Amino acid sequence: MLIDLVAGARPNFMKIAPIIKAIKKEQDAGSRLSFRLVHTGQHYDKKMSGDFFEQLNIPTPDVNLGVGSGSQAEQTAKIMTGYEKVLDEKKPEVCLVVGDVTSTMACAITAKKSGVLVVHVEGGIRSGDWRMPEEVNRVVTDSITDYFYTTSKYANENLKNQGVPREKIVYVGNTMIDSLLGNLDRLVQPGIWNKVSLEERKFILMTLHRPSNVDDGKNLLEIIREVCSSASNVPVIFPIHPRTRKMLDLDALKYNNLHAIEPMGYLEFIFLLKNCMAIITDSGGITEEATVLGVPCMTLRDSTERPETIEEGTNELLGTDPKALKPALERLMNGNWKKGGIPYLWDGKTSGRIVEHLLSIA
Ligand code: UD1
Repeated sequence: MLIDLVAGARPNFMKIAPIIKAIKKEQDAGSRLSFRLVHTGQHYDKKMSGDFFEQLNIPTPDVNLGVGSGSQAEQTAKIMTGYEKVLDEKKPEVCLVVGDVTSTMACAITAKKSGVLVVHVEGGIRSGDWRMPEEVNRVVTDSITDYFYTTSKYANENLKNQGVPREKIVYVGNTMIDSLLGNLDRLVQPGIWNKVSLEERKFILMTLHRPSNVDDGKNLLEIIREVCSSASNVPVIFPIHPRTRKMLDLDALKYNNLHAIEPMGYLEFIFLLKNCMAIITDSGGITEEATVLGVPCMTLRDSTERPETIEEGTNELLGTDPKALKPALERLMNGNWKKGGIPYLWDGKTSGRIVEHLLSIA
């Protein structure tokens, strides 16, 4: 059975890497499962893509659609026409998509229209916030998905409420956590550690890239100001996503404790996440990683599609008003942040369960 594995943007790569590893293990054991790795090229910078392939031992893609940047519609259209040609040349039995980025939705639609079975890793999660392109991607993808590989009981409930038959929902856990747990013993101390003499649990890590936080330059500056002033002398390490970078005049950021740096490799970023005092973010995936590492997490969003990181984990939604940062950082500094637990099946063995299910439908 041939499976297309689709990856396009940074948060896809750590989700797909352990699935590839699990398929290869089956192949070594004599299975006829095979895969074709399709990179859409939605992310293309070395720091957003290539470095992740190297660090996570992901093989060179069999196909790279090279779509690059563009508006939501442009990217979607380019991915669909590109992937359709690939399917015309050779059709797999299954198209496996992960997460909620534009590549996820575009390839799922194209595969389904070509008569290919679609399976969605991380299916069923919902933020309820239609302003986020990811929410549209999730709902559209799930409306044509044949099997849902889910990360949480909330995802299962969402799908059941939408009338998805029970047998289509496969509660497997979280492949992002497979990558996290599988790489903990090979983390890499980044250069910034010695450069600014960082110490364990004595610095704050921050990532921001959501349009709602970064596309308004004034608001973005306000967030940075609140964080840096409330953190007093604690260093704030801020790896900057290209989208955020475009909105910032770095020379104008005059805070002694702010260290704005290039996007980081996976092994370096997780090294910092594991050792920081807290992470301030608007990413979804990072809230899952922080939960498993037991690191206090402040999310600058009004909603989340991952409620388990709040109900069970270390994450808290602060909303998008930068004023919420000061009291939250005070609570953190006073040692009053909640301790969390680890959600069910986030055990590092999710990809094995996915491959087992794929074999059962082969
Ligand atoms: C995408 C995902 C988002 C995910 C994020 C992680 C969608 C709708 N959004 O958002 O869910 O959390 O990736 O990074 O799919 N750029 C570069 N180099 C790159 C990639 C992007 O310079 O390698 C710049 C481009 O100018 C581009 C902008 O960053 O216009 C945004 O990239 P895009 O892929 O459109 O969305 P992200 O904001 O990265």
